[in-house]
Amino acid sequence: MIGRLNHVAIAVPDVRAAAALYQSRLGATVSAPVPLPDHGVTTVFVTLDNTKIELLEPLGDKSPIAAFLERNPQGGMHHLCYEVGDIIAARDHLKAEGARILGDGEPRTGAHGKPVLFVHPKDMLGTLVEIEQA
Ligand code: CO
Repeated sequence: MIGRLNHVAIAVPDVRAAAALYQSRLGATVSAPVPLPDHGVTTVFVTLDNTKIELLEPLGDKSPIAAFLERNPQGGMHHLCYEVGDIIAARDHLKAEGARILGDGEPRTGAHGKPVLFVHPKDMLGTLVEIEQA
């Protein structure tokens, strides 16, 4: 079921500062900040040869990463995103395995315009896992 690692998301208080750090400290190729109001984040995409890193800053009052940043004010790893071929089959498999799907359990359109779901971190080794239909 599980395919490629699509991205690792890191929540940060200041996405421009975070992008500058990735650029200067790691020599990374970084995008300009991209506001995604529907997702409550401003994102910088860090392109690696084999995957992506997404640096996420809260955007708006109801950002889904606001509470995380309150607990981790300097930032921290927020979630991993794995690709799957069929998100409905993957969801049904996860549920049959006893994993809770966040929200109403229906896929929504993620930051890359593809259907995504999130698995409860308590059912996934303490790690928030996003699955994306590739
Ligand atoms: Co993500």
